[in-house]
This record gives sequence, C-alpha cells and structure tokens, in this order.
Amino acid sequence: MKISNDILYVGVNDHDIDLFEGHYIVPEGMAYNSYVVNGGKTAVMDSVDGHFTDEWIGNIKGVMDGKSPDYLVIQHMEPDHSGSILGFMKEFPEAVIVSSQKAFTMMANFFEGEEFADRRIVVKEGDTLELGSHTLSFIAAPMVHWPEVIMTYDSTDKVLFSADAFGRFGALDVIGETSRDDDDWACEARRYYFGIVGKYGMQAQAVLKKAAALDIQAICALHGPVLVDDLGYYLGLYDTWTKYESESKGVVIAYTSVYGNTKKAVELLAEKLEAKGVPAVEVTDLARDDIAEAVEDAFRYDTVVFATTTFNNDIFPFMKEFINSLTERNYQNKRLAFIENGSWAPQAAKVMKSMLEGCKNMTYAEHDVKIVSALSDESRAQIDALADELAAAYR
Ligand code: FEO
Repeated sequence: MKISNDILYVGVNDHDIDLFEGHYIVPEGMAYNSYVVNGGKTAVMDSVDGHFTDEWIGNIKGVMDGKSPDYLVIQHMEPDHSGSILGFMKEFPEAVIVSSQKAFTMMANFFEGEEFADRRIVVKEGDTLELGSHTLSFIAAPMVHWPEVIMTYDSTDKVLFSADAFGRFGALDVIGETSRDDDDWACEARRYYFGIVGKYGMQAQAVLKKAAALDIQAICALHGPVLVDDLGYYLGLYDTWTKYESESKGVVIAYTSVYGNTKKAVELLAEKLEAKGVPAVEVTDLARDDIAEAVEDAFRYDTVVFATTTFNNDIFPFMKEFINSLTERNYQNKRLAFIENGSWAPQAAKVMKSMLEGCKNMTYAEHDVKIVSALSDESRAQIDALADELAAAYR
C-alpha cells in the first residue's frame, strides 16, 4: 500500500492471535502497522510483533530497492511494536534507532541490557529528523498508551504517525487498508480506545490539541486502516472520547442473571424503554457477551442501568469486573440506574453504588428496582417507574 509516493506500508496481519494484549478478542485478526518514509534517507516507522519479524523485514526489503534503511523510529515499546527491533538491528547493521529516552530505558529492560548506546538518536518533543525531501517532527504523547510514546509528523506529505491513537482491532486484509474500505471503523476503534487507552483521556486530549495545530492529510496509526478523507470525523470522535463525553443518546442495560429472574426484569425494562421511544437500548449479558464491548457501550451512551444479584454478601463476579473496568478508566458524566436481586438480603444496589461513588459528574435515577428472588407486582411497578423516568429525558 502506498500512503504517498514516498511513504509505503510494510506492516503485517496477524490471524493466529487469540487475545490481543492477552485480553481482547479480535475476531477480525489484528494488524501491526509499519511504514517506510523515503526522503533520500529512509526511516522505518516502528517494528512489529516478534512472531512476524521475518515477514516484516521481507516487506521492508521489498520496497527498499536493495538499499538499507537508515533509521528505525520507535514510537512505542509495547511488544506488539517492539518485538522485532532486535531482528531489524541485526539485519540492517548500519541502521540507527530514533526514539525517546524512556523508550531506550525500556529497550534495556526488554532486551537484557541492550539499549543500542552506539546506534541511537534520542528525541523529544519538537525535535526533527531530516531525511532529505522529508522532515519528521516528534510529538511527545506520554500515556497514549505508555509513558515513552512519541508521535511523528511528516510535514512534506502531511502525515501524522499516531502510535496507538486512532488504532482499531482487525487485520487489514479483512477490514481494508484505508478508512475508505472500512465500514465499521468507529465500532472497533471505540472498543479499542476505551479498552486500551481509555484511562488516559486527559493525556490523549492534550495530544489532540497539539495535533490540531498541524495540517494533517492522513493518519497512520499502529493498528487499523490508514485514515484518509474526512479526517474531521475521526478527530471529532476522538475529541468526544478523550473528554469522556457521551457520543450517543440511549440506555445500556448491563446485567448478570443466575437463574433468569434478573434477566426477565432487564428484558421487561428494555421493552418498556423501546416502547417509550428511547433512541437506543443496548442490553448486554456480562457473563456471556464481550466485556470490552460492554465497556465501550457504557462509555458511548449517556445512561447505564446496572442489574445484578447479591452474591457472597457482595455482587455477582462479572458485574464486579465490569464496574471495575469502568472506574479504572475514569468513568464519568453519566446517568445511572440500578436493578438488584437478592433472595434474603438484597444489597447489590448498595454495593454497586459504593463502587461507583468516586466517579465524577454522575446523576442517579430516583427509581431503583428491587427484586426479591423473582418479579412481583411491586418490582414490575418499580420497572414501570424507572422506564418512565429514563425515557422522559429523551422526549
Ligand atoms: Fe499497540 Fe500499546 O500497543
């Protein structure tokens, strides 16, 4: 793939991976992106996962016309990008690594003390690397997604190499090489963002502000398609996500149910919300559905209903994991409601509220629902009242 006459794609697709970062299902596989920038001198932008070293080096050689690359720019040291650094440095003994000081410290830790003392250029915010007809400028992007991260701007072709930011799950031979071919960018980019970078919205927002000062024609992330055309759409979504603003109006109902009674309450509430014209109602079974998708939805929509059972004097484990996944990502700015079930001493609502109490700018629905074992006239009436209250906000 050609990003421009001088910038070529040399990344790889991974269809063997079961869980990305040991955590996220990737039914469409995963791409580890890498690019060659040729300005007379050449820079390779990032390496790839160590299972793909040979394929990646083959891709680089395939676009180098027999020359050796001069530089390897390392923007991020997580092993999905740093895993082939040693192989590259062995294959191209004249090449020099360009990276942040923190990244070189990480190299020493990952590579048994090897930090390329004689083959490195340390860069920081505002530094540049002259390649001839191209100049690369470096932008510090700490915590997007690790502290050593830098992004890189090519002022000649106006390309932003954005490290993990603007990444998406999916191999490029499935989802398309550029955003023009990718119909589902927002869904999988949102799951990726909130799962992987979501805790660091403030830091990502600071980098977006720096990016706003640049003339950008294409965004080359480390995962997912190259973003071209209508970049305002992608930048706008990232602005919303990094500010923890709700992107869509609607209610997410996240539940666990042991014997189906809590599920019946959830289904009844969903039916009523839909009947009352709530713009979107998303129901997720936390024990069976992808929790990263549930986290994504909880950040996307403005209202979340948590429904679970009292369990071991606490709450059901999948709900506990879900709420922890939200709070550790600085969950905020939502309207919340609760359905609890308990056969002798229901206390799930109290536990869930206490887990969420440190979150900023939350409003709580007036009407909670308490189920004692199974639905009753009383709990059905509470569901009616909750549905009325939640739906009223969308009228
Ligand atoms: Fe794609 Fe944070 O590594």
